[in-house]
Amino acid sequence: MSEQYIGVFDSGVGGLTVFKSIMESMPSENLLYFGDTAHVPYGTKSEKQIRKFVLNDVAFLHRFPLKAIVIACNTADSVAGQLLRETYPEEKIFGVIEPAAAEAVRSTVNKKIGIMATKATVASKAYDRAILAKDPTMDLISVPCPLLVPLVENGRFEKDDPVVRMVLSEYLEPLIRYGVDTIVLGCTHYPLLKEAIQSLAPEIHLISSSDAAAKVLKEAFPAEEGQGIRRYFVSDDRQQFADNASRFIPDLQGEIEQVTLE
Ligand code: DGL
Repeated sequence: MSEQYIGVFDSGVGGLTVFKSIMESMPSENLLYFGDTAHVPYGTKSEKQIRKFVLNDVAFLHRFPLKAIVIACNTADSVAGQLLRETYPEEKIFGVIEPAAAEAVRSTVNKKIGIMATKATVASKAYDRAILAKDPTMDLISVPCPLLVPLVENGRFEKDDPVVRMVLSEYLEPLIRYGVDTIVLGCTHYPLLKEAIQSLAPEIHLISSSDAAAKVLKEAFPAEEGQGIRRYFVSDDRQQFADNASRFIPDLQGEIEQVTLE
């Protein structure tokens, strides 16, 4: 049993925000990370492409014995989460949308929630469905933020970076004008921009879909003793992933392997 892994996947480095939360809260678990860096970003692709990528990602994870799968990508969860759950009904599949939606509903006081996400996630309306199913009186506004994933993938997320501030200001403007008191960071790349976003919107409560997902996962598995194994796989250049990943997991331990899917 101890050789089973929790398999975590994303289109690139973003899912490491989920992975980091899991590592911190569930240190004994064996964890596998797969970043589909050959195909990042997912959020600007068609639903058909995203579904194909996601099925390949999960097929790769299945090369290992798994105790759970974590969709560490809002785009993948919103477009292909249901397909995955139907394809693997016997698997424990954890996503990011449900946990973040639940936390946003708990957090808001004025019932105005903003959602920042990729184009594909916004177009899917997955957050609208998840939040309104919990409370139909919630007032929602969604902003697609296509420039944020490329910024993060290129290591540009510091709060003093003028380019980061300029791009974020544009995306935040409609949310601030609408009067939201809570914003869902509906993409696992965005927690890296949390400080920058908070500095531009100091009064607004930010919900990390990554932390919310890790919390739900922890509730599902009892804590155990010991230190788990960590393994990292990417579908494109290892070095670029390593450089970028080390910016926010400085003590990234374990080898990074490049794999070819298909
Ligand atoms: N980090 C992902 C998400 O949560 C994917 C972003 C992308 O590849 O466009 O949506």
